[in-house]
Amino acid sequence: VVEAKRARIEKLKEQRNAMGSCEQKFIKAAQAIKSITKNMYARPKEAYAEANGFIEQLSKSLLVDQEIVVHLMNDKVAGEEVYFHSLNVAVLAMMLGREMKLPAEKVRTLGVGALFHDIGKSQVPDKILLKTDPLTAAERDFFQQHPIYGVDIIKNMGTTIEVAQIVAQHHELMDGTGYPHHLKGPQIAPLARIIAVCNTYDNYCNRANPVQSLTPYEALSLMFSQQRAQFDNDVLSQLIRCLGVYPPGSCVRLSNDTVGIVVSVNSSKPLRPSVLIYDPEIPKDEAMILDLEQEPDIIISKSVRPGLLPREVYDYLSPRKRMTYYMDQKPQSTPSKKG
Ligand SMILES: [Fe+2]
Repeated sequence: VVEAKRARIEKLKEQRNAMGSCEQKFIKAAQAIKSITKNMYARPKEAYAEANGFIEQLSKSLLVDQEIVVHLMNDKVAGEEVYFHSLNVAVLAMMLGREMKLPAEKVRTLGVGALFHDIGKSQVPDKILLKTDPLTAAERDFFQQHPIYGVDIIKNMGTTIEVAQIVAQHHELMDGTGYPHHLKGPQIAPLARIIAVCNTYDNYCNRANPVQSLTPYEALSLMFSQQRAQFDNDVLSQLIRCLGVYPPGSCVRLSNDTVGIVVSVNSSKPLRPSVLIYDPEIPKDEAMILDLEQEPDIIISKSVRPGLLPREVYDYLSPRKRMTYYMDQKPQSTPSKKG
């Protein structure tokens, strides 16, 4: 029993270290993005080089034969900053690109394109961007021009054509209901289709008004069950395959009748994520993280809407107002006797 307990503590330490090192990398990434955003207008070519360098680094964490773990970032670390949307889309798109076995160069193009996909929004007044009521027709027309503005801006950077296509087409949908040009299926560049899926997913989870945000589970179900015709189905199924039906950030009930929040998922075993468990006996800061990969007898029985959790459970799990993801290699776990 003592042996088992020690193994458990070791494991918990390992998990915390992995989360901590991922947070450090995320903070560095956030700084890089801040600097790229700042330089974009005054020194566009430099900003582009900086973006390529940053994505090059990030793609190293995706090297072949390594399992990828997607972590939910702490609100304290992530803050509220809007440009994390680009980083989220980059992380998700690069993960999908790798899982779809795209060449490394295409995976990097996805990353760079994702960083700049919404750059045209800088030409749209905040009054429209931050409006939480439905847009008027005129406002919507203005907003829907942002991919076109974006292409104009990145022209000064001298990006590749594929990056420009991502910016131009990230709101085009397979059934022709997208914008600005209502392109259909084969007219949309393959990389832009990947960005469209990741962008839609992240927009559902991170609304301007957090109250309107969907849970990750709801976002995936909506896209899969009602909007499938809008997306490249290979890409959409890949997203579900990698994140699982309970992506990081999902509040869940387990078969042992505990509740928790999914804090990370190994993209090759999406149904067995790590879950931070609510336990009133354990202080919140030391909360137990259950790695379901190591617990074959426990399964997730369902997703729970955070709003339906009792107050004390909600405060303990602190479901994020914004979902911010970052990815890392799976730590090489030290072989330990399983208790
Ligand atoms: Fe956009």
